[in-house]
Amino acid sequence: MSQKKRIAVIPGDGIGKEVIPEAVKVMTAAGANLETSQFDWGADRYLADGVTVPPDGFAMLERDFDAILLGAFGDPRVRSNVHAKEILLGMRFRMDLYANVRPVRLLEAALCPLKGIEPRDVDFTVIRENTEGVYTDAGGVFKQGTPDEIAVQEDINTRKGVERIIRYAFEYCERHKKQDGSPRQRVLMCDKSNAMTHAGGLWQRVFKEVSGEYPQIKAEHMYVDALCMQVVRDPRQFDVIVTNNMFGDIITDLAAALQGGLGMAASGNIHPGKISMFEPVHGSAPPIAGKNIANPFGAILTAAMMLNHLGLTGESEKIEAAVLEAVRQKKVTQDIGGSLGTREAGEWVAGKVGRG
Ligand code: NAD
Ligand code: IPM
Ligand code: MN
Repeated sequence: MSQKKRIAVIPGDGIGKEVIPEAVKVMTAAGANLETSQFDWGADRYLADGVTVPPDGFAMLERDFDAILLGAFGDPRVRSNVHAKEILLGMRFRMDLYANVRPVRLLEAALCPLKGIEPRDVDFTVIRENTEGVYTDAGGVFKQGTPDEIAVQEDINTRKGVERIIRYAFEYCERHKKQDGSPRQRVLMCDKSNAMTHAGGLWQRVFKEVSGEYPQIKAEHMYVDALCMQVVRDPRQFDVIVTNNMFGDIITDLAAALQGGLGMAASGNIHPGKISMFEPVHGSAPPIAGKNIANPFGAILTAAMMLNHLGLTGESEKIEAAVLEAVRQKKVTQDIGGSLGTREAGEWVAGKVGRG
């Protein structure tokens, strides 16, 4: 019997509080050897006592847990979004979770808004740099409120940060197969080096250098504007995409649409050898929160990704197969053409997983 894995569960705000319990329910039904602990970090807690991350919070997660399952952060009552910054971005930065791995997979043709696209045509992964770029919030506002106001938002790119994410993408390409069992063979670096020449120059040089160490993998490049067009025109051409923090954020919402929408997209925030954090790509979706209509499959597939990362591959595969079956049988929420509620869709997948 493998050792019990300790999972910190932080549902957060809005639909995070609805979809994460479904993901936990499904993991339990799959018989995964887990012990979960719930944390109330999020807008409610912040509004109640001003705490976003309790003192020692990140150190506690690193010390006491094997992985973290996160919902989403964002609440209209917290206009500054300070709690999301401190919890979500804080976790990515302070725990140095530098690789944001966002698989893009289509489960059924009907879910894709593009004509003539089949599941085998959409199977790529975006590897997003997760600790640098414009997200560091370096910069400032000067002469605020005057006609001379200046806002500076710095784009931070370090040699170390760029090199490790590009290397991660090549390693990922080498170690991960496509859904159909064929090997991955191409890494595409996406930037805007024709306009952002300083940062782009660094990315270009490092990509050339690191790709030289992987002669068996084809190294490709696209500017981010052209890539967005190609993702919609023909997603078949992509395999592994590596890019900076902001471009990765934008591309993965676009790519979520290929999968049936934000309700279907999963992600992991990873630092090899350290505790990692897993979260659906979507946000807290305030307008649909509390109505039992949010799609829980992004969160459930995220849980499967986490179990796979923890070595619980059998349980992970069982969950992915059950979600696929739910999609095929239309046991799904309304955003992807079904009539089930969040809980009912989660319940169906849990039941399927439990039946084996
Ligand atoms: P969002 O992802 O919450 O919602 C975008 C659109 O997708 C909305 O129409 C929403 O209804 C729909 N959607 C999202 N998830 C869905 C699901 N599971 N099922 C069905 N429909 C779903 O993005 P937004 O509206 O730009 O942001 C809302 C809040 O969430 C903001 O405060 C934002 O900062 C925050 N946010 C947080 C995270 C995170 O914590 N990881 C990610 C993105 C956005
Ligand atoms: C995501 C989200 C976050 C990001 C926001 C909430 C800061 O959009 O995880 O994709 O931009 O990284
Ligand atoms: Mn995003």
